[in-house]
Amino acid sequence: LSRLFFTYQGIPYPITMCTSETFQALDTFEARSDDMVLASYPKCGSNWILHIISELISADSKKKYKYSEFPVLECGDPEKYQRMKEFPSPRILATHLHYDKLPGSIFKNKVKILVIFRNPKDTAVSFFHFHNDVPDIPSYGSWDDFFSQFMKGQVSWGSYFDFAVNWSKHLDHENVKFILYEDLKENLTAGIKQIAEFFGFSPTGEQIQTISAQSTFQAMRAKSQETHGAIGPFLFRKGEVGDWKNLFSETQNQEMDEKFKECLAGTSLGAKLKL
Ligand code: PPS
Repeated sequence: LSRLFFTYQGIPYPITMCTSETFQALDTFEARSDDMVLASYPKCGSNWILHIISELISADSKKKYKYSEFPVLECGDPEKYQRMKEFPSPRILATHLHYDKLPGSIFKNKVKILVIFRNPKDTAVSFFHFHNDVPDIPSYGSWDDFFSQFMKGQVSWGSYFDFAVNWSKHLDHENVKFILYEDLKENLTAGIKQIAEFFGFSPTGEQIQTISAQSTFQAMRAKSQETHGAIGPFLFRKGEVGDWKNLFSETQNQEMDEKFKECLAGTSLGAKLKL
């Protein structure tokens, strides 16, 4: 599988989605102050949040967005940053990049950045299934195989832990807010209110209830072929907290607990992430 990655500034990226030319061109990306950025490590629930943001925009301004078409900042061809100049505001930009690899115009223009985290165990399990269930994506030999690559950071977009450590230093910045997958799962309505407040939307109570009903796992999975085509049902796989218990061995569990402590103990993120 290592043939499927190329490394840019020390991080492996999938060659099918990213190129070094695009990374070089990324510096030319001109952020707007009303852009909205959603940062996440893969499999932490970005589609869930993108859907919620698109529904908030639609409730606010009647503008209809297809959330599955929001660009991932670092993916695609290098000319995309020119094309993105024509996109109407507000632009919603997803990214799996570390904070310090984002283009400078995002900070210069004080763009709001929402970061979603999910506990690393469920994230790893979701990532494994995605590779092994989707027909056109190369599979890992076994869960054990994937686990050891995940722990080494030899997976697309690199190490979960490097991502978390990097972002953990910036989560208290004025234009950054972080939310947890597990909290959203526990109280979707409260999460939607927080997202709305952060981005400056004022939905009515009725609108929040409607968005909430449309953003459950079941509702999003039911529409997944419409939104994402054949890949949809694989992307909306299970949507649960704790699925890691079905795959992790006791040794793997301990190894991840250790790594988590080593990387995130003493950080506010480490205190909030529920393992
Ligand atoms: S990707 O490929 O990186 O963009 O994937 P991403 O969207 O970030 O994460 C996919 C996982 O998020 C789950 N998901 C949800 N969980 C609960 N509720 C809702 N509405 C929801 N939408 C997406 C999705 O099922 C993937 O997790 P797993 O554990 O594989 O089911």
